Amino acid sequence: MRFSRALNLVMMVGLVSCLLTICLWSTCTVKSSSLNDARVEMVKRDEPSFVHTEYHNRGTNSLRNTEAEEEEEEEGGEDETDTAEEDGEAPAIGKSLKFSPQSDVSDIDCNINGETTVQCKKVKDEVYLPWSFVKPYFEVFGEMDKDDTFNFHHANSLVHPPQPTYGPGSMFMAFDHYTVETRDRVKCVTASEDSLQTKGIALPVTEKTLKCFKVDIKFSTNGSISILGELSNGEKVKIHFVFSREHIALDLKGGNIYYGMGERRNEWIHLARQLIFDVMKGFLQKIKMERVKDPLWFKRILEVRVHGHGWLDNLTLTSDVHLDQFFDSANWLVKHQDDRGGWPIMVTRRLVTGVMELAPGWYSAMGQGQAMSVLARAYTLTKDRTYLDAAVRGLKLFEVDSAQGGVRARFMGKLDWYEEYPTIPSSFVLNGFIFSLLGLYDLTLVADGQGKEAAERIYNSGMTSLKTNIGMYDTGQGTLYDLRHVSAGLPPNRARWDYHTTHINQLLQLMVIDDSEIFKTIAHRWIGYLKGHRSRHN
Ligand SMILES: *[C@@H]1O[C@H](CO)[C@@H](O)[C@H](O)[C@H]1NC(C)=O
Ligand SMILES: *[C@@H]1O[C@H](CO)[C@@H](O)[C@H](O)[C@H]1NC(C)=O
Repeated sequence: MRFSRALNLVMMVGLVSCLLTICLWSTCTVKSSSLNDARVEMVKRDEPSFVHTEYHNRGTNSLRNTEAEEEEEEEGGEDETDTAEEDGEAPAIGKSLKFSPQSDVSDIDCNINGETTVQCKKVKDEVYLPWSFVKPYFEVFGEMDKDDTFNFHHANSLVHPPQPTYGPGSMFMAFDHYTVETRDRVKCVTASEDSLQTKGIALPVTEKTLKCFKVDIKFSTNGSISILGELSNGEKVKIHFVFSREHIALDLKGGNIYYGMGERRNEWIHLARQLIFDVMKGFLQKIKMERVKDPLWFKRILEVRVHGHGWLDNLTLTSDVHLDQFFDSANWLVKHQDDRGGWPIMVTRRLVTGVMELAPGWYSAMGQGQAMSVLARAYTLTKDRTYLDAAVRGLKLFEVDSAQGGVRARFMGKLDWYEEYPTIPSSFVLNGFIFSLLGLYDLTLVADGQGKEAAERIYNSGMTSLKTNIGMYDTGQGTLYDLRHVSAGLPPNRARWDYHTTHINQLLQLMVIDDSEIFKTIAHRWIGYLKGHRSRHN
């Protein structure tokens, strides 16, 4: 076998998408920002593009939002309704961008806060700052479209509509929009952790592009399954599933990728693979996410070859194996839960180097909660109590403080906060906390007896904390990722737009569960920030 000279890659627990999200989130802007950079570069090269700016008289605030109008006038005197700006609309600064005759245009220096100088244009009474200055300075986005219109965006991420009803019988938030497998930090989807039965839930094949396969196979000798596939450029690739404890290995010259199935003779193995990701993790690891979305990357399966002796059943070529992999993940969680009811994370996490660090073996409230969301759904589909019991065992760490290796922090010594990263000092990460609450909520709906009581107690306590503290994350023009500036005296950690929209998506989903006014008010305000609206200043 060619393992000996092949390059071994670091392996992450591939199948468990819920656990992956814990540490993978941070890769998701790479795509959008690089796309945006590319567009802007194009703009910069082809034509100098300028953004029209307008100087406001001191004391007027042209960027208004609903909250500002709903608020009581603090100082009585100021009434800005005469600016005739519609509620929720961006201020009308978009006059024609057509330049007047050349003689009206002159180059001028713009002095930026007395710190630096930028070359600007003056056209009659207007001043134009270069976009290459505006973009990074104000952290904004924009690109030219086909009609030579410049599209300006305050933010670079989207709010997904929430699920109309929420519970373990439905899709988890908008996670059908995410493909965790494509992220760089997912080194491969292991072939050694899938399990036997999926309780026979049939998957209708809706597409003719069959890029997945699944099989039930039992070897009595050493054996392997090899898939010969064709890539979009016509190249051939061979993906081998072999008896080995290595997770992934490559033989780049020969066009071979190997995945270890473990040493499992005389045992039914259920193998369900999305070959596009097997190829990607093998050869095309540096491929950009947007290219993977191209359906031609793995074009088709040419041949399936099995070596060895044994039994084979249910060999299926199909368009997706999502449900199979979902149960593989749920089964992984059951199999790998430890005696504290946790799924320890075996890598060092440095949230703030030297200040907030976690040594391998830490638990995450978000990991625990997402595991509960998976297990509650597996239980809902199968009524198999194995899943429910594992989810209930996962509750224990929520009532153990971070200092004792649990996931609970206490804000100001009072409010329970379930920590995505149970650092000391506490970090109070907002999105991870809300993910943990959704998992707890899922469990309150499916558990019974003492499990249900515990889930409700922990969930209710967390929701009280969330409602009390959520305002602390509001900066008036965006949100904060965590409270490190409060707990550790560090500079505030502003949430980038991806996280800001995650916060909004989470609040919109929570509103389906709990119609407290505070979620509505805050979600509305936070959505406004995406369009540049700000809370009113004094
Ligand atoms: C093949 O699939 C059927 C239907 O899903 C299932 O009942 C059966 O157990 C599978 N065979 C094996 C060997 O797992
Ligand atoms: C089966 O594979 C293992 C390694 O996975 C090897 O040590 C063993 O010698 C092989 N057995 C046979 C009969 O080839």
